[in-house]
Amino acid sequence: MTLSAAQRIELPGSSILAGAGLLQQAGAAAASLAPAHAYVVVTDTNVAPLWLEPLVQSLERHGGGRVLTRVVPAGERHKTRETWSAITDWMLAEGCGRDTTVVALGGGVIGDLAGFTAATYLRGVNVIQVPTTLLAMVDAAIGGKTGVDTPAGKNLVGAFHPPAAVLIDPEVLGTLPPRELRGGFAEVLKHGAISDAAAFDEAARFAASLRARERTAAEWSDGAVVSLIARSAAIKADVVRADPLERSRRQILNAGHTVAHAVELASEYTAAHGEAVSIGLVTESAAGERAGVTAPGTAARLAAALAGAGLPTTIPRELDVDRVMTAMGTDKKNRRGQVRFALLAEVGRMAGNDAEGWTTALEEPLVREVLSAAVAPADPAPNERESGAAARR
Ligand SMILES: NC(=O)c1ccc[n+]([C@@H]2O[C@H](COP(=O)([O-])OP(=O)(O)OC[C@H]3O[C@@H](n4cnc5c(N)ncnc54)[C@H](O)[C@@H]3O)[C@@H](O)[C@H]2O)c1
Ligand SMILES: [Zn+2]
Repeated sequence: MTLSAAQRIELPGSSILAGAGLLQQAGAAAASLAPAHAYVVVTDTNVAPLWLEPLVQSLERHGGGRVLTRVVPAGERHKTRETWSAITDWMLAEGCGRDTTVVALGGGVIGDLAGFTAATYLRGVNVIQVPTTLLAMVDAAIGGKTGVDTPAGKNLVGAFHPPAAVLIDPEVLGTLPPRELRGGFAEVLKHGAISDAAAFDEAARFAASLRARERTAAEWSDGAVVSLIARSAAIKADVVRADPLERSRRQILNAGHTVAHAVELASEYTAAHGEAVSIGLVTESAAGERAGVTAPGTAARLAAALAGAGLPTTIPRELDVDRVMTAMGTDKKNRRGQVRFALLAEVGRMAGNDAEGWTTALEEPLVREVLSAAVAPADPAPNERESGAAARR
């Protein structure tokens, strides 16, 4: 594939390119979109053995600068100021100047961490995002939010720093663990649900086909797959373009996320983000239906698509609804006895608008009732099953 053959989405200051084999074109893309004397590639211990070499080779051949690499331990718990300071100290020791481009090769953790490094290093150098998870391709790598976690909470120290380029190469999804892939589909389906019913249906069909059988690495370079991912990335880009600093419209990206964040917190992060988003999309829509904001049948349509993608749509029994409610109280979207949600009007369209706001306040008792009704039904315990059988006899 040549660079000019890649699908292209433009944001102010950012070019988003999507194409199979784009990783091998990273050097040429960097030279044209964020040329530098030094490229600092930041990646993690899972991604490095899989995808670092072709990227570095391309940068060395065509980037026109020296290439340095930094591999950090994989995982959210390393998205910290400590990791950030280790990287920046090392870059300073290596003599990296303002003509450095940081290249983030990895999922959202690396994207946020390396993006924040670029945002702060010498008051800001270019970053190129090379997302390697589905979530990062359609969500984290797009829109310029960067940051690290602190003991007080996730993403609390950060900066807006739009990437000079985002290079999306779906071939790298061939090595992504299935749970991570499913989690990415929660966001892909969310993007369809908030703005494009046809994209929603297309993503639902694709996710269901993936569950039916594993896709080979080569199949990830299929044009239809590239288009599906590019379309989802474009939905996020459209929202970001309209509201880069999250003052209004960008809140629609929080659909499903008020409940999701509470489920993550209440489960002590044993529920993966995508799983929590899936539960959140269904339960928030059910609450929206009860409040007369969301069209009847929306929650069921979402649940069918998400379940088809292998995602949970009910609240796990071991999760206490009280704890989820409490966790929502600590959510910054909460106001006095009410909780605010970015609700759908129907699949493909949001409730709300720029004038009155994109979130809707719902009364706490209604939310509690909907969440209680969404707790997964119990498998009958063995003794109950027996007594049931005895009663029938
Ligand atoms: N900046 C934003 O706008 C934004 C938006 C959404 C999420 N985020 C952030 O993104 C992070 C979550 O991102 P994520 O889900 O990509 O998690 P992640 O970066 O931790 O990646 C998930 C796992 O997959 C591994 N991995 C990545 N690519 C792989 C590949 N191609 N093959 C095999 N393994 C691979 C990683 O090493 C990791 O173990 C969170 O920190 C979240 O806060 C940021
Ligand atoms: Zn999310």
